[in-house]
Amino acid sequence: MSRARRRDRLVYLGSHPFLFALLSATRFAPAMRIGRTVLVHGTDGYVDGLTRVRLDRTAPGSTGGIARAAGGTDVMFDESGPEHRATRRAVGRTLAVPPVWRDVLRQRLRPLATGGTVDVVAVAVELTGVTARALLGVDADPVHLAESARRAAAEAARDHFSRRKRDSQAARELVALAGSDRGAMLAVAAVNTMVAALPRAVAWCADDHLWAAAEDDETRPALVDELLRVLAPSPLLPRVAAGDGQVAGRGVRGGDRLILVARHAAQAHHRRPSIVDPAPKSVAQLVFGAGPHACPGARLAKAQLADALTAFAAYRPVVVRAKVDRTAALPGWSTMEVRAG
Ligand code: HEM
Repeated sequence: MSRARRRDRLVYLGSHPFLFALLSATRFAPAMRIGRTVLVHGTDGYVDGLTRVRLDRTAPGSTGGIARAAGGTDVMFDESGPEHRATRRAVGRTLAVPPVWRDVLRQRLRPLATGGTVDVVAVAVELTGVTARALLGVDADPVHLAESARRAAAEAARDHFSRRKRDSQAARELVALAGSDRGAMLAVAAVNTMVAALPRAVAWCADDHLWAAAEDDETRPALVDELLRVLAPSPLLPRVAAGDGQVAGRGVRGGDRLILVARHAAQAHHRRPSIVDPAPKSVAQLVFGAGPHACPGARLAKAQLADALTAFAAYRPVVVRAKVDRTAALPGWSTMEVRAG
């Protein structure tokens, strides 16, 4: 196992050790039923679950249901049909923002030039806050907005795992900053995924000496796709079937919980990132979901990651200190300190 993979495993082991152990132990079965829950590890089964099974988008325990339990309505994950298509068109227009995050990279990486250290998590928080503020057209403080989106997501995830339902103070604060439920949902989606992904990607490049590939305009796009594939920042998609169907040849019934393992569908666990022999795009893209609800922010996420890797690559950083985030909604680091190598 490469040094990068060894370090990256810690984000799962440190935040959800039992869940990670269960998923590792069952991963050889493309789909496995445990009571009313079906664990789906295979690439085809994952696509079946997202595109061929009718899903109950508002069921408790699904992403839409979790967003609703946190206080949101009309939050896109919970929509379907013409209403959902109209929202996607509107959100698609919002997502065309200029690269406002480049200023953050220019300013926050300066200490690396003089032998200092930089916390990549803090950079990611500010970068995503600046981006979310531009997406939403609000004038909230970027770090405050991003931290609020992180708290709201962490609280929703905690309540989901403990099966608690409460009025979320964090979600209310975020809606006030973002201007609407839908704005809050966009901030949650835009901030949490990238704050998880960016520090993990920088650490992977540092540990596996990938900075030359990150710096080169020719190889960077493939590297970005491959890093996102092995990181699978949103590793599990919890869904609930609304009717009978088939996933990887196994029958599912209405009301079954489907745990769609994006990490395994994208072959993150057994295929290392390679710019000479990358996974097919159709596989790499699965970390962004599939079908009518596939992530509309994928292009933006890749642009941010590509710019961030370009900026860091100039310093050939190495990791000096890292701490797993045990409370975040998605597996990631709470500190990822680097200095120029
Ligand atoms: C590396 C970064 C990201 C990853 C891995 C990721 C992953 C995902 C996944 C797996 C889904 C569910 C897809 C499905 O159900 O088929 C999703 C949905 C979504 N993502 Fe992302 N995402 C990322 C970044 C972003 C960004 C930057 C934004 C916005 C600026 C965003 C906005 C959304 C929205 C609004 C949805 C809901 C789409 C719908 O229900 O129609 N994502 N994302």
